[in-house]
Amino acid sequence: MSKNTISTLNRMKAAGEKIAVITSYDASFTRQIEAAGMDVILVGDSLGMVVQGHESTLPVTVSDMVYHTANVMRVSTRAMVIADMPFMSHGTPQQALDTAGRLMKEGGAHMVKIEGGAPQVETVRHLTARAVPVCGHLGLMPQSIHQLGAYRVQGRGEHEGERILKDAVALQHAGAQMLVLECVPAVLAAEITRALDIPVIGIGAGPDTDGQVLVLYDMLGITMEGTPSFVHNFLAGQNSVQAALAAYVQAVRGGTFPAAGHAF
Ligand code: KIV
Repeated sequence: MSKNTISTLNRMKAAGEKIAVITSYDASFTRQIEAAGMDVILVGDSLGMVVQGHESTLPVTVSDMVYHTANVMRVSTRAMVIADMPFMSHGTPQQALDTAGRLMKEGGAHMVKIEGGAPQVETVRHLTARAVPVCGHLGLMPQSIHQLGAYRVQGRGEHEGERILKDAVALQHAGAQMLVLECVPAVLAAEITRALDIPVIGIGAGPDTDGQVLVLYDMLGITMEGTPSFVHNFLAGQNSVQAALAAYVQAVRGGTFPAAGHAF
């Protein structure tokens, strides 16, 4: 089977086929994820919390991201792999280019993901003009946790929703080829997904995005505290990690996940 690329994902969006995405940080889980037929793997800076035990994603370094991305790439066979740009690694376009260079050259990532809207547009333009594929990330942005004060739904008011929609359009115009929308009302996510040509992947964003992403440890039910309400434990009722991952892929593709209770 051929490797998934951004062209595969664009074709899936056009055909109305849902895209299944999961986070991974190491080789063993990546083998299981590949065997389950996942479309995309995200080496998320969520590793700061679920792997390293920090309270937020902020302490994660570029070297951490390169290390974990390389672990995943060593055994990944078919999925497209996206690596997160960690906190304070993309403050200027040049710094972002240096970070992306490491994630792609040393880590082997196919695409990088950047949190942020309007303030990141110039950086996204700088990267995409230099052959760095970029995935945007709007809605709840965990790297802004100390500004937000809590992990909560974003874009609830009309004004806030319009701002996120405007940011999404601006990121696409700057060259972003994918977008993650985290913790926004389902109606807003549906509107943004319709407005954009690029694939939109939701997490806590309802059923109408082009695909879904979950943090691996959350969907396996091994996150000990504060599992968000939009997560489903796919290991419950299955007898292996691979079966849980396959159930997730099937639920995303079949549109049974997320269910009404997983949306805002
Ligand atoms: O870091 C991460 O795992 C993420 C997902 C929650 C989308 O950004």
